[in-house]
Amino acid sequence: MRLATFSSAALLLAAQVASAIELDVDSYDSIKAAAKIVARDLANGFWDPYSVAGVPFPTYYWWLHGAILGAMVDYWAFTGDDTYNANVTVGWLRGVSPSLDLQPDEQSFSEGNDDQGFWSIMSMDATERVFPETDAQKDMNAGFLEITQTVQNLQAARWDNTTCGGGLRWQINPANSGYLYKNTISNGLFFQMNARLAKYTKNATYANWADTTYKWLRKTKIIADDYHINDGASIPDCTKFSVERWTYNYGTLLAGCAAMYNFTNKDPYWKDQVDNILKATYATFFDDATGAIKEIQCQDSNTCNSDQPSFKAYLARWMGYTAQVAPYTYDDIMPRLRKNAQLAAATCTGQPGGTACGLKWNIGAQWDGKYGLGEQLSALEVIQNTAPFVAPRGAGAGAVVDKEQGTSRSNPGAMGTRGGVHNRNSQYLPYRLPTYTITNTDRAGAAIITLLVIAGVSFGARFTMIH
Ligand SMILES: *[C@@H]1O[C@H](CO)[C@@H](O)[C@H](O)[C@H]1NC(C)=O
Ligand SMILES: *[C@@H]1O[C@H](CO)[C@@H](O)[C@H](O)[C@H]1NC(C)=O
Ligand SMILES: *[C@@H]1O[C@H](CO)[C@@H](O)[C@H](O)[C@H]1NC(C)=O
Ligand SMILES: *[C@@H]1O[C@H](CO)[C@@H](O)[C@H](O)[C@H]1NC(C)=O
Repeated sequence: MRLATFSSAALLLAAQVASAIELDVDSYDSIKAAAKIVARDLANGFWDPYSVAGVPFPTYYWWLHGAILGAMVDYWAFTGDDTYNANVTVGWLRGVSPSLDLQPDEQSFSEGNDDQGFWSIMSMDATERVFPETDAQKDMNAGFLEITQTVQNLQAARWDNTTCGGGLRWQINPANSGYLYKNTISNGLFFQMNARLAKYTKNATYANWADTTYKWLRKTKIIADDYHINDGASIPDCTKFSVERWTYNYGTLLAGCAAMYNFTNKDPYWKDQVDNILKATYATFFDDATGAIKEIQCQDSNTCNSDQPSFKAYLARWMGYTAQVAPYTYDDIMPRLRKNAQLAAATCTGQPGGTACGLKWNIGAQWDGKYGLGEQLSALEVIQNTAPFVAPRGAGAGAVVDKEQGTSRSNPGAMGTRGGVHNRNSQYLPYRLPTYTITNTDRAGAAIITLLVIAGVSFGARFTMIH
């Protein structure tokens, strides 16, 4: 017995060592091979583009489906591997919904501006990377650029001057308590979307929105003078902050400032913002001893919820984007991403499968026992965003283009087929929890699901308590 136990433990250890992900960040082939394994584990473990939520719900929320699609668009752009492209299209059409506004009926009760924003950032990415559009997609007016423009129009119409002197509220639906909160990620995604639309289309209306949104965040001191970036502030006057610092808030503002720097052809104001946010990002989230990116609010304390392990993915993605569109930052950003790619890959020895990646990149070549969607997504993004450093010219590796090289159709007036109907509370109510059919056998389970949904709505999946 004892002997057998020993040998199976030894075998397990051997299997883990044998299946750890090898990554040589100086080799494009090695980066592609490592990204392929992490993408496979992400797709097999956490993604079903044909399902309503796209991700295992509950635990994971619908916005993460948009986040996965964004990572898979970049995966194709950086590696040239089109394994997942067809499923990206399937998932995209599911999210676009018949109403062409990234507000599918099943989500309309709980969908926030940030949820919609994550999907629109994915579609902006697909626009800039010239991700292939299918004829069916084009025929139904579900092209990537026109849907991004739709979200821009819908969210611009939600800009709220009646409290805090401006800003987007977190929630769209007034029945949710998050309606009383203006969070950084909703506004930061709106800012970044507008900045990238401005860069891509050269339409100054988008640049004006980006400018207004960013300056509002500075004026309220949601972005404090020392670049402590708060999670958000509550209405009516936005003087009460939620002070938690999250990697994705820094990342979305960084990428938006980089796009504005590019659009304005090196305006010193935007350069200053890029530099200051980068500096704050390094000081806040980069571990002194190892150089690892750390989600400081929850990583050490093991208190991350199901959303938060994915936040490092977006910081990595948007640092990579910044290095591309504000090339003067390249030599500063790339060594840090390359270091983190190595650190992250070294954690990918976990179960099931022996290649699952951990959350803690600062503990050396070992898996921390965390297996999840966010862990896979973060490792994938940080690994694949190092590809441009070594990829041979012409091998793809994720060029970010503007409309001259892009092919997605522009439709600046698009509002979706409902014209933003979901702005009004009464129109939400018919959609309230529509997808759960409660049968007698699973009544108890369904009640729990309902409670989880309501709890998620009230207290926020990606929301932290206001101090
Ligand atoms: C696409 O999604 C379907 C449904 O989840 C899955 O069966 C299939 O394996 C996926 N294709 C790839 C290439 O991952
Ligand atoms: C909000 O106020 C700004 C000026 O502070 C104004 O330019 C803008 O048109 C207003 N927006 C809306 C939607 O009322
Ligand atoms: C703007 O971004 C493009 C990539 O889309 C890059 O080639 C160009 O150098 C950037 N321009 C400036 C002024 O940084
Ligand atoms: C620029 O964008 C605005 C806002 O969506 C739109 O109203 C306007 O028609 C666009 N202009 C051009 C030239 O596309």
